[in-house]
Amino acid sequence: MFYITTAIDYTNGAPHIGHAYEKVLADVLARWHRMCGEETYLLAGVDQHGQKVQQKAEAAGIGPLQYAQEVTLKFVELWKRLGIAYDGWAATSDPRHERCVQKILTALRDKGCLYKKSYKGFYSVRQEQFLTDKERGQDGQFGPEWGEVIELEEENWYFNLTAHIPWLRQFVTSHPEVVTPEFRRQDLLMAIERSTNDLCISRPKNRLSWGIPLPFDPDFVTYVWFDALINYISFAGYESGGDATLPDFKRLWPAACEVIGKDILIPAHGIYWLCMLHAMGFADEEMPRLLVHGWLNIKGEKMSKSLGNIVDPQELCDHFGAEALRYYLVRDTKTGYDSDYDPERLRMIYNSELANDLGNLANRSLNMCMRYCNATLHTPSGDDEPSAALRQSLLQAEATFIEQMNAYNTSDALGALHAHVSLCNGYIEQKQPWALAKDPQKAEELQRVLYHLLESVLHVGFLLGCVLPEASGRLLGQLQVDVAGLTPQSLAWGILKEGHQVQAPSPVFPRILTPEEKEKMAAKAAAKAAKNNA
Ligand code: MSP
Repeated sequence: MFYITTAIDYTNGAPHIGHAYEKVLADVLARWHRMCGEETYLLAGVDQHGQKVQQKAEAAGIGPLQYAQEVTLKFVELWKRLGIAYDGWAATSDPRHERCVQKILTALRDKGCLYKKSYKGFYSVRQEQFLTDKERGQDGQFGPEWGEVIELEEENWYFNLTAHIPWLRQFVTSHPEVVTPEFRRQDLLMAIERSTNDLCISRPKNRLSWGIPLPFDPDFVTYVWFDALINYISFAGYESGGDATLPDFKRLWPAACEVIGKDILIPAHGIYWLCMLHAMGFADEEMPRLLVHGWLNIKGEKMSKSLGNIVDPQELCDHFGAEALRYYLVRDTKTGYDSDYDPERLRMIYNSELANDLGNLANRSLNMCMRYCNATLHTPSGDDEPSAALRQSLLQAEATFIEQMNAYNTSDALGALHAHVSLCNGYIEQKQPWALAKDPQKAEELQRVLYHLLESVLHVGFLLGCVLPEASGRLLGQLQVDVAGLTPQSLAWGILKEGHQVQAPSPVFPRILTPEEKEKMAAKAAAKAAKNNA
């Protein structure tokens, strides 16, 4: 089982392009594993509790649940539009999750992992946490990222995190696979050395009521991160008491891949989460693997309300189409690293790699097959050097695609397919099928060329299914092939059989026009209409 999860998104504001990138990446990886024939379960969801939601709801004059649900809807709509095919939905206000969190709290308390104490210190309202001197800047002040900082004395419940740090150090050191990419694991190892405090896991109800009540101390609710992290197991059926609406935990766990952004590796996932699981009694081999992606920035800057540079993915879907956005996000970002969102690059990459290169290849090949061969393909009888080179290139592209996808490197995987598509277009220019069609002596060679082109389109179209499910379906539909049961590993040359019939093409990747191009097109159409009327 390939159990893959994503971070659950805060419901304190609308989704932005960063959220979209993470879900698309996770969806592409999940589709990839499904395509490989692995049983796969993708969990996505929303993080609905906490101070930020409570404050936004108060400002809106509605209850926190209603507020969280309204924002949740925006995420759900976006994931539908972007084709995120999740199998499970984690919403932290779900009573099944609340029950699980409370069970875990009780069990940890019974084991002696939780204790109550009073603490006086500086508290960041925005980040909902007490600050220590480590959080002070060089000027000795708490920076603007902490928002309003107040002095507070409070009794709270603590998780004995520090007791688990020696285990964590040893575990992360000896299990390089636990964090990808490797440089993030190194960051985590350094952060573990700085982990000297236990974790406050409660908030007094008089300050924050929008959370899961502590089962053994009703004056408190659970700290939002402690609650949120548990979603990965609660919605996988942990301690569900046989609830048939949840999966069978034994089949899903451990998560093969938890997809998270770089900002929530330290301390949330890399320290709190692993130590929480350890405290609950999970063994080393039952720990999840973390895939840490970078951030999408705008012109090198972080997206923020104050900078007014937040990019709305729904608008991008309106403008470019959902699949163009999906392709761009996983093609132009090297998994693990930051990248800049740039609509001009989106247009350029889509137009060149999909509209021009793959779209034209498919259109031209199908058209020529219709025109010169009565829509019928014949398995090649002879061979020649360029055709052999093309088959070799496809083999290489597929091997690289498989290798890179398994290593989460979507960008290089797609780059390998694109390189093969470019080679196919070069092969058309070299072979000039339109010239071969004029010479009856060259009929065999013409058949061979068209066969090589369409077999290539089939393989590329099939593999692209994990990134572009809709376009892939349309391409394969025009080729009239059924890929049921086919896996990337079982792809072999010769899927198209003797006498195979194809359909007339209809463009799958219409060009994205610039506003100037659109204007020009409209002017041309108007001139034509005027001429027709005259
Ligand atoms: N609710 C927590 C996660 C709890 S997981 C148990 C949270 N929510 S978030 O809405 O702020 O972020 C959700 C995910 O989106 C995180 O993985 C975060 O890293 C990611 N991103 C937020 N902004 C991003 C970019 N600008 N670029 C890429 N991903 C970013 O954190």
